[in-house]
Amino acid sequence: MIELSLADVAVATGGALVDGADPTATVTAGVEYDSRAVTAGGLFVALRGESDDGHRFATAAVGAGAVAAVAEERTGVPTVLVADTLVALGRIARAVVDRLPDTTVVGVTGSSGKTSTKDMIAALTARLGDTVAPVGTLNNELGHPYTVLQADRDTRYLVLECSARGIGHVAYLCEIAPPRIGVVLNVGSAHLGEFGSVEAIATAKGELVEALPADGTAVLNADDKRVRAMAQRTRARVVLFGTAPDADVRATDVALDGAGRPSFTLHAGGESVPVQLGLYGAHQVSNALATAAAALACGMPLAEVGSALGGLRPASPRRMDVFTRSDGVTVIDDSYNANLASMTAALRTLATIGAGRRTWAVLGYMAELGRFEQTQHEQVGRLAAELGVDRVVAVEPAAAGIDQGARARAADSGWEGQSVQVPDQQAAIALLADEVRPGDVVLVKGSRYRTWHVADALRETADSALGDREAPA
Ligand SMILES: Nc1ncnc2c1ncn2[C@@H]1O[C@H](COP(=O)(O)OP(=O)(O)OP(=O)(O)O)[C@@H](O)[C@H]1O
Ligand SMILES: [Mg+2]
Repeated sequence: MIELSLADVAVATGGALVDGADPTATVTAGVEYDSRAVTAGGLFVALRGESDDGHRFATAAVGAGAVAAVAEERTGVPTVLVADTLVALGRIARAVVDRLPDTTVVGVTGSSGKTSTKDMIAALTARLGDTVAPVGTLNNELGHPYTVLQADRDTRYLVLECSARGIGHVAYLCEIAPPRIGVVLNVGSAHLGEFGSVEAIATAKGELVEALPADGTAVLNADDKRVRAMAQRTRARVVLFGTAPDADVRATDVALDGAGRPSFTLHAGGESVPVQLGLYGAHQVSNALATAAAALACGMPLAEVGSALGGLRPASPRRMDVFTRSDGVTVIDDSYNANLASMTAALRTLATIGAGRRTWAVLGYMAELGRFEQTQHEQVGRLAAELGVDRVVAVEPAAAGIDQGARARAADSGWEGQSVQVPDQQAAIALLADEVRPGDVVLVKGSRYRTWHVADALRETADSALGDREAPA
């Protein structure tokens, strides 16, 4: 954390210092919105949540050593009084960024793969200099400034995940931490229900490159026409990544090994290096190319980019976490979240890893699809059958469309697999416990929480590559 006086905080937020808040008092420790996390010299921001109101904890926070509270009402302790504490948090974060001229902000957006790619980019920039990146998926108007506030004078790279649930959201995050490098991965159908159309999603994601300065770098996916078109929306230098022949950072000779790990030749600036990823799934090639483009823009030599990519391992839990239990059952835990693109990527990986073995796709509901819900669930079921998955298990009635899609495909094409819909995760766990045999490969995936218990039950007998779990939030 950069030191700020309460006078600085008042200027940044447009707030008033009341109830004994001393303008010369200095914030030397973290800015927190959970009073239990406050330490001596910190600053407490009182947020109103759905279930609780942070204003109730201002006294406790100051008792724990906070210099003051930032609040929307008087709390009886030294306070920076503002109209909106969430906005104030963003403005304080911006004040910190403005005091860090030597820090390069890298923003990552897209429908799928933001967290995975953010982790990959951060792992590479950490070789170049001190890097701050969010843990997990802190990517909204709360998590974003909170992450930015972790930066200090030693921070050289701030790698941020920018999510959008509507027009203007990414632009807002870019005001908090103006990016110099902006990476747009893809435009898919995540949150289609809220946006209404894929074009609106493209408009929203493109706000990232509109925010770049002329001497910045827009890293755009050449293989996604909506992302490629964003080149028109930026003043920055454009670097295209992908398999397209005109991509500046390009992969050729893409192949997957038997475990589903991609290898490829990476080309950039007239040079090439071989890359073997330790990550699972063909979609990681795209994420790796985006990472390479960002790292090259930060000045990393291509040979180092290639070897650093090869050293990456899954970093955030429940995303393509592949492990084999002592009984020979291979589990693909991709249960963190799901949309059509990531379901497709995961099913393809299942088909690759499961070649010659019996395969299971235990699939849960995909949330936030609005009127596209039924058709996209059916599409997932159809794809599972097309790829020859042996057993499809749709978890919960909400995912019934997956089962219907698989059955429809079976009727059309004589798919020999079986599809069932089970009432809940417990029923899926019971079915798997009875019927999974050594050698089987089991993919578990659904929107947040929808299949987490299933994945955990399969994990019970094995140690994952990844220890920590993300708690429901
Ligand atoms: N480039 C990609 N294309 C398709 N699917 C992907 C891609 N990258 C990752 N995925 C899959 O998408 C899911 C979510 O990955 P990740 O958490 O990295 O994405 P995200 O964009 O951060 O998601 P969220 O919007 O939930 O924050 C995982 O199942 C992952 O395997
Ligand atoms: Mg994420």
